[in-house]
Formats: sequence, structure tokens, C-alpha cells
Amino acid sequence: MLKLDVVTVFPAYLEPLQLSLLGKAIEDGLLSVSVHDLRDQAHDKHQTVDDSPYGGGPGMVMKPEPWGNALDDLVTNETILLIPTPSGVPFTQSLAQELSTAKHIVFACGRYEGIDARVAEHYKTRIRVQEISIGDYVLAGGEVAVLVIVEAIARLVPGVLGNQDSFADDSFAAGDMQNLLEGPVYTRPPVWRDLEVPQVLTSGDHAKISAWKHEQAIQRTTQNRPDLLN
Ligand code: 6GU
Repeated sequence: MLKLDVVTVFPAYLEPLQLSLLGKAIEDGLLSVSVHDLRDQAHDKHQTVDDSPYGGGPGMVMKPEPWGNALDDLVTNETILLIPTPSGVPFTQSLAQELSTAKHIVFACGRYEGIDARVAEHYKTRIRVQEISIGDYVLAGGEVAVLVIVEAIARLVPGVLGNQDSFADDSFAAGDMQNLLEGPVYTRPPVWRDLEVPQVLTSGDHAKISAWKHEQAIQRTTQNRPDLLN
């Protein structure tokens, strides 16, 4: 059972975590997801969670005290603390694979210009803390990144996907697909608007099909992500 806690000032953003594949995994007891409102941990009259940055500059920074209160309630020595931020290390399929075997992950969603750096610095003395980015662009906050990260991790938890939709052929999957994009896929009908399904796929020759898929993966990777090829 993988236990996930998310701390945010916008709990409603995380509602999709209860839907579809993830909702089913929660129902099946493979996953638990709890969402916590950071504002509940801000004890002044206006429940303040942000303040202007030391040293000047644009925007607001999240204050450390509410974060300390929230995280002290959630963290144990087995917790991995993930902080989504565009300045983090890239989130990859291999990191998703590794995190899918964790016991407990806490996500700290920053808004505004980010969280006072002492929060990460402090928890790094107690537990594993990782600042992670989902790509080279800037979101308004970590919430949408958490949806992305949780979905990528959860589908790798044993039992979440049916045997039907195994992930060995996925783009970036460990093994043959590590540095490749998955190629095109087809289903019935065999002809649609004059376009035929590649004949090899209906040949029943599994070695030939597998070689063709590999060739298509290389072709697509060359076209869309040449940076992945050596
Ligand atoms: Cl993880 N957070 C935010 N706010 N922006 C991002 C991101 C994360 N990854 C890419 N851009």
C-alpha cells in the first residue's frame, strides 16, 4: 500500500486524484491519497501563508512556519518529501519507477514564487527530500505537477494496471524502450478512409511484429526526440 499526502492551498485542484484509474486503485486498497489545506496550519487571524521575498524581487514567497506545522504532522522516518518546482531535477519514468515502491510520499505544493528554502533544507536533515520538475516551462503552482507525478507513479504500482495494459512497451520503459518513444498503434477496422493497417501486424509472425515495432520506435524517436538517441 502506497500512502500519499498532498499539502496545498488549493485542495480542490487535487480532486481528480479520486477519479478513474486512481480512484479504482484507492478503492482496491493499493493506494491511499489524503489532501491537506496548508491554510489550516497558519494560525494568525488572516491565515497568512505568504510574504514578500527577502532581498526584493517579484511576487510572494511561502512562509516556513505553516509548512513546518503541516509537514511535522505527516512526516515519519520512512517518508519521501517531494517538492514540485520548475527548478527541481527532471521527473522521469525511471524516477516514477523508483517512487512506485515507496511506502509514503508527501507532496508539498508551492504557489507564488515558491517555498522559503529553509523548509527543504530542514527536512533534508531528517528524511529524503527531492525537488522535482515535470518539464521546462513554468506552472502557476505545484498542484497540476502533482497530478502528473501521482498518475505516473500510481500506474506502476503492482495491481493498479490490469495484466492487459502492461507497461513494458511504454515509451521510456526500463529495458528495450528506455531511450525510445513507442510507435503507432492500430485497431479495427482493417481499412478506414482508404488507410490500411500495416500488414505485418495481421501476419501472426510475432518475431517479425516485434522487429517492426522496434523499427517504428526508432523512426518516431528520430523524428520527435533525436536528443534521446545517443
Ligand atoms: Cl513541478 N512546478 C511548477 N510550479 N512549475 C513547473 C513544474 C513544477 N515543473 C515544470 N514547471
